[in-house]
Formats: sequence, C-alpha cells, structure tokens
Amino acid sequence: MSETTELQNKVSLIDTISELDTFEKDTIGPQSELMKKFKDLTQLPVEQRKLLGNELNNQKKLLQNIFDTKREELKKKELSIQLSTWKDISLAIPQHKIGKLNPLTQERWKIEDIFQKMGFEIAYAFEVDSEYNNFEAVNIPEGHPARDSWDTLFTNVDKNVLITHTSSLQNRILKEFATKIDALENGFLGTAGIGKCFRHESTDARHEHTFFQCEGVVVGKGIRFSDMIGILKTFFEAYFEKEVEIRISCDYFPFVEPGNGIEIRWDNPSENILKITKGTGWLEVLGCGMIHPNVLKMAEIDHEVYSGFAWGFGLERLVMIKYAVDDIRLFHSGDRRFLDQF
Ligand code: FA5
Repeated sequence: MSETTELQNKVSLIDTISELDTFEKDTIGPQSELMKKFKDLTQLPVEQRKLLGNELNNQKKLLQNIFDTKREELKKKELSIQLSTWKDISLAIPQHKIGKLNPLTQERWKIEDIFQKMGFEIAYAFEVDSEYNNFEAVNIPEGHPARDSWDTLFTNVDKNVLITHTSSLQNRILKEFATKIDALENGFLGTAGIGKCFRHESTDARHEHTFFQCEGVVVGKGIRFSDMIGILKTFFEAYFEKEVEIRISCDYFPFVEPGNGIEIRWDNPSENILKITKGTGWLEVLGCGMIHPNVLKMAEIDHEVYSGFAWGFGLERLVMIKYAVDDIRLFHSGDRRFLDQF
C-alpha cells in the first residue's frame, strides 16, 4: 500500500474537525516530517534539490487536497447534525388572518357592474357637498318642511353639508345630460350615482347614521313611469339572481312628481327579520318618481320635450335581503365573525 493510500485510509476514519486538524498538523504542519524534508533540501546539490523539491511540493499539494476535501465533508456533516437538533426559541406569534373587502364594497362593485351592462354611466357623490346640491337643486328651498326629515351636519365653510342622500348628485348629472341630450335620437341617458350618506338618526336594525345609497337618474324623450319600473325590476333580478316580488306605494319627495316608495318581499323571515319588516315581510328599499319639472329646469333641460325618472335605494338594505342580514349595524361593526362570512 502506498504512503498516500495509507494516509487516505486513516483520514477516512476521522470523525471530527478537531481530530482532522491535529492529524493535518502532524502530517504537513511546520514540525512535520515532510516539512523537515523541505528544510533538508538546502543541503543537496542544485539539480537534486530541484527534482526532490518538485516531488515534495506535489506530495504536499496532494495531501493538502485530501485534508481539505475531508474538512468540507466534516463541516457539512456537523451542520446537518446542528440543524436537526436546532430549536426555534423565538416567541410564538398568533397567526394573523389576511383582511378582505367589506361586504358593502364587494356588493357595490356588483351593482356598478350590472348598471354598466344596462347602459348606465357610474358617478360618485361627494361626502361633503353644497347645501344647494343637497337641497335647493332638488326643489327643497330653505324653510321647506322636507328638510326636517334630512337633518344633518353643516360645516362652517360655505354652508356645506354632510350629504343626506345621493340626490345631491342629481343637479350635476342632469347638467351633464343637458350638454348631450339634443344629440340623442332616441333611447335614454342614464347614470347610477353611488355615495355615502349621513343622517341625524337614532339607529336600529334597519337604520344607520352612515349608509350608502345608489341614485338612478334617467332622462330622454317620452320616458314613462313604466320604464322606471321595468329598469328597476331588471336590476333587482340581476342583483338577486332570481325574480323578486316588489310593492309600489305612494310617497312624497319634493324632487319627483309623482313620488313613490318601493318595497321588496323578504322571503322566509325569521323572528328578527319580521321585526325589521314590522311583521309585514316587506322592506322598503327605495324612493323614486318622475323628475319634477323644476329640477329639470334648474339643470336647463326643457321639461316640455324631455322627461325622466330618478330613484335612490339603500345599498345596505339590498345586501341585507340578499344575505338575510338581520341588523344593518353589523356592516360597520368590525366584527370578524360577521365579516368573515363574505
Ligand atoms: C331619499 O333619500 C331620496 N333621496 C330617494 C329618492 C331619490 C326619491 C330620487 C326620489 C327620487 P329616503 O330618505 O326614503 O329617500 O331614502 C331612500 C332609501 O335609502 C330608503 O328606502 C332606504 O333604503 C335607505 N335609507 C334611508 N335612510 C336610511 C338609514 N338611516 N339607514 C339605512 N338606509 C337608509
């Protein structure tokens, strides 16, 4: 067996890096036999020194290589032993669930999508708007008794208000229609305007102080009441994905004539839901009517030529019926047990 093979065999039996270091030091370290041979080279004639010097160098490289390879192998082995016995001593952090969109946002997007497919433009109401847009432009001048039912907060600046209904958009939408209406051959101009409304309200299972409304405004030539009912029924069926029973009643809003309310039948009502519908199984979802001539005039639309209708529905009320939510206050409660269901 050659000296190198013998050394390789010995190295293969070594188990630890410190053992290897000692063996390496004894074999090729400064005090080793091999290094002594290097020192002895100086005693030899030049030619022999060259020959033997080369041989010793090659031998040292070979041995060094054997030690280096073994050292790498031992390092990997030690690391894997360390990893297999390693313990995570960091503090256990509770798993946080990833948040998601509030059901009202999810449903609002579905509603916008349906109206867009029906040919409507989508608009958004300002949360703070002028007293003019919220009241005067919809035929509710100062001192009008109807202002009492839409009590809200006024800002110090320019008598702006926290909007009480998305009807605050009507004048803007109609003024925009006025610029396009003469080019309209037939059909209608329609916008669905969505916004957050605020009211001085004592809250209960179906009333919030802050809630969303969706305003529909449609104008064209020869637009009739029956068109409004047809459009609303088409929308309800698309949103609820089934036929819904509606009930139309008379109501008063200064910006429409005639004015109406629409209720939707709430199927299989539980005890709580019956409380919300006051035992009737019907829930009011919107106010609507044919746009009052004064409102068209204020937007410079000729009411002798054009007619139109408008509605305003409560978004929460529709979502409540769709998913049998028996308290409107749950939407803004931040209660994960409720929100996680959507
Ligand atoms: C209005 O707000 C009118 N602007 C609607 C309208 C528009 C009529 C265009 C005619 C033409 P009302 O106050 O009834 O009307 O509210 C309309 C709907 O908003 C209600 O049917 C209900 O669905 C919802 N709503 C009203 N108040 C609240 C509240 N406090 N909490 C939750 N939803 C509400």
